Amino acid sequence: MKKTRIVVIGAGAVGSTTAYTLMLRNRVDELVLIDANHKKAVGDALDMNHGMPFLGGGDLWAGSYEDCKDADIIVITAGAAQREGESRVDLLKRNAVIIDSIVEEVLKYNTSGILLIASNPVDIMSYITWKKSGWPVERIIGSGTLLDSARFRYLIGEKLKIDPRSVHGHIVGEHGDSELPLWSLANVAGAELSLSDADKEEVFANTRDAAYQIISAKGATYYAIALALDRICTAILRDEGAVLNVSTLLHDYHGVSDVFLGVPCVVDRQGVREIIDIKISDFERELLHRSADKLHNLIASIGV
Ligand code: 2OP
Repeated sequence: MKKTRIVVIGAGAVGSTTAYTLMLRNRVDELVLIDANHKKAVGDALDMNHGMPFLGGGDLWAGSYEDCKDADIIVITAGAAQREGESRVDLLKRNAVIIDSIVEEVLKYNTSGILLIASNPVDIMSYITWKKSGWPVERIIGSGTLLDSARFRYLIGEKLKIDPRSVHGHIVGEHGDSELPLWSLANVAGAELSLSDADKEEVFANTRDAAYQIISAKGATYYAIALALDRICTAILRDEGAVLNVSTLLHDYHGVSDVFLGVPCVVDRQGVREIIDIKISDFERELLHRSADKLHNLIASIGV
């Protein structure tokens, strides 16, 4: 039987934590870490491999782009990360160049896997990856607003004293400042949430600004995004058909086209199998358009 393989490109905080999460959960037979600073990837691989006697599990090594051959999923986490006082969009020019060169290398060795993008600004990096690769769009997935939706569910659960796994809620649009909450769809067991307008405002502000809070406290975010990436990888490898708010190319979705945005998608072995056609209010539609317009303008500004 063919061994399952995930390659994680970028051994920064997000990449190494993602590899560690995949390792702890025993997700694949083969896990490869690639970094421009090979020494860092070697150090991470050694450190993680020394934990194998406590886990059992597959092979993990610091590799090169050649290892992308036969990979089921290639997770791109490389690039500059947001620093205090920066927004994700401030990384656009620097990371566009990095992503372009990474995709070029990957394509030399793999044409049939799934590219999962986490580098920021993730929706635009996913768009660049799609354009550059020429791959069918279902095989390019951005981590999108999956993490934001998890933050949203956690914060609602905290207010209501309900397990966040039992809270259903979606953040859609840009993974960034123009994202929006779909309050019209948020529920617990199908029942409307008993939250005041002030509570809702506070929950959404803390969701949208979570990365700023964490970066100001400790310089970077990595644990929850690693779990979000693990969740997407699992939905793919197990052919789950899980509904996840990942970033995908929209085509006349509530009137939005030609941009990657986070929306509820069905994710399985093919990648994004389909987008769920949700009902949204007129106000939510307007906010979704604003988010898309922002990204269209940014994409135009770098001439992709
Ligand atoms: C996050 O939301 C910075 O995009 C990263 O945690």
